Parts: sequence; structure tokens; C-alpha cells
Amino acid sequence: MNDKQKVPVAILISGRGSNMGALIAASLRSDFPAKIVSVISDKPDAKGLDHARGFGIEALAIPRGGYDSKAAHEAAVMAALDASGARIIALAGYMRLLSGEFVGRYAGRMINIHPSLLPAFPGLATHERALASGCRVHGCTVHFVTEGMDEGPIIEQEAVRIERDDTPDTLAARVLAAEHRIYPVALAMLARGEVRMGGDGRTQYSG
Ligand code: GRF
Repeated sequence: MNDKQKVPVAILISGRGSNMGALIAASLRSDFPAKIVSVISDKPDAKGLDHARGFGIEALAIPRGGYDSKAAHEAAVMAALDASGARIIALAGYMRLLSGEFVGRYAGRMINIHPSLLPAFPGLATHERALASGCRVHGCTVHFVTEGMDEGPIIEQEAVRIERDDTPDTLAARVLAAEHRIYPVALAMLARGEVRMGGDGRTQYSG
């Protein structure tokens, strides 16, 4: 597949960007149906920005502090996304709650990776909460982004067994490795049109 046939994707990050790195690595394969055209961070010191630049990818910092309101900041991010030509938006550790306007603009085209088997443990500190709950299985989820936090229709998941001697850190490391496997798979499915968000708010698979 040549570059022009690939679906353009923008990634939003706030930090380390290891999932972004997994998406970039996958996108370099000739058979991968998407290419990363832009990375945007709300944190100027996000490590992922330099990593993306190393691959020749446009990487922009759009800090919240540079704007008077959440709406003005989101308008700047939307303008940058639209200017990039991205058709799919992938959130990868982007630590901001998005407004209904933002979510609506990219409905069915914006996905997120979350470190739990949703609908269990939406929100933060998922590994600590999974361990405290006593459950034996944890994992990660890629889902469409909707207005409710971590509530959108699920696209892909991978389960990770909880071991008796797990700490939040050891568990997080195995879940992160699973995240890096499923995020490229889910993005490829969306780029190929094998999955979509139906009007009933459920995931529809084809192909
Ligand atoms: C990941 O655990 C992801 O699931 C969550 O935020 C973390 C981001 O990590 N949404 P990284 O920046 O991709 O390394």
C-alpha cells in the first residue's frame, strides 16, 4: 500500500507517548492501512513530541495555559487537527475531558485506549483498583470516544491475568504491553472500514 492510499491519522497525547510510538511503528509497515500525519500534545514537555519528530512527523504543543477558556483551547486543537488532514483521531494518554462539541465533531472517527477491561474501572488508577477489587483478570480496551468518560462502544480488548504477587507497577507493565498490541489492531480495523460506530451507539463489525 503506498502512502497516498493510507488513511491519515492524528494522535493526541499528554505524556510519555508509548502507545503513540506503537501506532507509529505499526504505521511504517507497508501493509498497515493508516499513516500518522500529526501528533498534538497539551503539554509542551511531553516526551512523545520529540519521539514523533524523530520520525519526521509534525508534532505540535497546544498548551491549555495559552488560552482563556476550555472552549478556546479546544478550538485551537480542532483547527490543528483539521489542518493536518487527519480523518481519524487517536487519543493516546490525552489527559483532558473533551466537550460534547469536540466529541461530536469527530464522532465515529475518534478512538481511545484505556488501561482496564471496560466497563470495569473507567477513570484513573485502574491497576490499583483492579488489584484492590480482588478480580483475577484485568486488561485494556480500545473504544470509540463518546461524551461519557471511557463509555464509548468497545472495538478491541485484551485480557491480562492478575498474578498473586502483582503490584500496580508489574501489572501496569503487562497491561501496557497488551495496549501496544491492540491499539494498532483496532486502528487498522477502523482505517479499513471493518468497524464503525452505529447510530444506536453500538459497534458494528464487517469484513
Ligand atoms: C496508557 O495506559 C493509556 O491506556 C492511558 O494512558 C496511558 C498512556 O501511556 N489512556 P502512554 O503515554 O501511551 O505511554
